[in-house]
Amino acid sequence: MSKYKISFADDEFDPVELPEQANLSEYLTVQNSPILFGCRIGICGTCLVEIITEDGSLNERTENEREFLEAVYPEEKKCRLACQVNLNTNIKVKKIEL
Ligand code: FES
Repeated sequence: MSKYKISFADDEFDPVELPEQANLSEYLTVQNSPILFGCRIGICGTCLVEIITEDGSLNERTENEREFLEAVYPEEKKCRLACQVNLNTNIKVKKIEL
């Protein structure tokens, strides 16, 4: 199975390597990343991030995620809720404070 790398805009944290299709909320913790999680089902917005990919491919937004992002950041295409992202490419993640 392939592995992909998550690097963080915040240099305080080293990159993390995770298996393909890993859900970020199952692997990222306060020890290894700046991302915090709350509900983990795409409705609270605690895990709001900007994600830059090498090839632009990420899993489709879930319905909960789409509704949340349209309400909060309708113009920002790179925003995702990290708890709704399954890894399928190398990504760089930047935490967004609401
Ligand atoms: S943890 Fe609540 S939206 Fe991701």
